[in-house]
Formats: sequence, C-alpha cells, structure tokens
Amino acid sequence: MTAAVPPLPAERVPRHVAVIMDGNGRWAKDRLRPRAFGHHAGVRSARRVVRAASDAGVEVLTMFAFSQENWHRPEEEVSLLMRLFVQTLRREIKSLMKNRVRWRFIGEHSAFPPELQALMRETEAMSKDNDGLTLLIAVGYGGQWDIAQAASRAVAEGLTPSAEAIEARLVTAGLPPVDLMIRTGGELRISNFLLWQLSYAELYFCETLWPDFGSEEFLQALRWFAGRQRRFGRVPEAA
Ligand code: IPE
Ligand code: IPE
Ligand code: MG
Repeated sequence: MTAAVPPLPAERVPRHVAVIMDGNGRWAKDRLRPRAFGHHAGVRSARRVVRAASDAGVEVLTMFAFSQENWHRPEEEVSLLMRLFVQTLRREIKSLMKNRVRWRFIGEHSAFPPELQALMRETEAMSKDNDGLTLLIAVGYGGQWDIAQAASRAVAEGLTPSAEAIEARLVTAGLPPVDLMIRTGGELRISNFLLWQLSYAELYFCETLWPDFGSEEFLQALRWFAGRQRRFGRVPEAA
C-alpha cells in the first residue's frame, strides 16, 4: 500500500510542462528486444502522462517525439517512427476529443510523409476549439530552428528581430513559458529542445527510462516542482 500523499495546491501546479521522452531504445535493449519494441511501449507511457497532466490541471503539455537530429537515425527506425505516429494519431483521436484535448504539432514538417502531414493538420483542425489540456507534440522540432524561423519572419515583416518580436513568432507564441522540463533516461542535456522557452524552467532529470515512466513518476516531478523557489533573477521574498 502506498502512503496517502496530500494533493498539490492548484497554485503550485506548473502551467506548462515540457517532456523529453528518452530511453525507449535502452529499455528495449535491456529486454533483448528491437528498438521498435521500446517505441511501442513509449506510446503507452505518453498516453499515461497526457492523462496525468490533464488530471493534475496542467494547461499545456509539450512532448518531444522526434527531433530534427533524429532524421539521422537509420532509415528503418525513422520509418518505423513515422508509421507509429500515424497509427497513434488515428487510434487516440477519439478518446482525446472526448477529453477535450487540443492538439498542436510543432516543428518543421515538410519532410514528413504526406499522409502524416495531412493527419496532423486534420487533428489540429478537429480539436482546435477543445477547452481541455493543450497538447503540443514536437516532431521534426529543433530549438535553434524555432528561433531562426521566428527571427526570419520578423525580418520579412520589416521588423527588428527584438526579443519581443521573436517571442511572438515562435511556434509556442501565445502560450505560457515552460515552468517545468522533465527529461527521462538519465541524460543531462537539452538536445535542441525548446531553447528559448526553457529560459526560466525548472529542470527535472530522472534515470527512469521513458517506457517505465507513468502517472506516479509524473506526480513525483510535479511535487518536486511545487517545492522549488523560483526567483527569476530577483532576491527571495522576505519570509
Ligand atoms: C526516445 O528514445 C525516443 C525518440 C527519440 C524517438 P530513444 O530512441 O532515444 O531511446 P535511447 O535514448 O536510445 O534509449
Ligand atoms: C531527444 O532524445 C529527442 C527526443 C526525445 C525526441 P535523443 O535520444 O535524440 O537525444 P540525444 O541524442 O541522446 O541527445
Ligand atoms: Mg535517446
């Protein structure tokens, strides 16, 4: 039996959580199975975490599913991941509509299979008026690309690429900044995820491989976050 844990006070729940879902390959390797086995298990973890975030009252959840650098993986793994994205989208859309989840896909999508691109656009259009969790799936995403595309657009509009002009053109424009970034799988790096948006995020790294990460681990990260003192460069408030 697990001990009862007091619920998190609403004002201590992060508004925006971003997750680097890492460790699928190692999880499969530990079981002497192909990497694909780990990616399939990873989809189940993603489902659990979306539900946990929604239940906890998180407003925005951004999940890193495929980086621009992941294009350099063997062709077989890339195409498996593409198929898995299509399959997962088709399978999940109904239940996520029921749960009022609003989907958005962030990244450079032109190299993705046309079927997947169409499915991403359809899912976004279908869910755009939902009022539950905003779920951002980062696919073909790179933090440097995001900043560069925002700056280029500002310049093309005849503006000076100031911090405000860039921020307003990032793929996350209009959403709250990331409060909590979680990376599973034990690596202590950002791997070109949301570079700008993580400026003042609290960073939570854990050894747990992504397929073993579930609602309890997610709540543990939220509890850790609730205990952090955020200063944003100021001096701490007097006790
Ligand atoms: C993360 O798991 C999933 C993707 C990058 C698509 P990995 O595939 O990177 O798993 P490890 O890091 O090799 O264990
Ligand atoms: C980061 O994981 C990207 C995703 C989880 C989608 P990687 O496994 O690609 O990162 P590195 O290569 O270990 O930095
Ligand atoms: Mg990895």
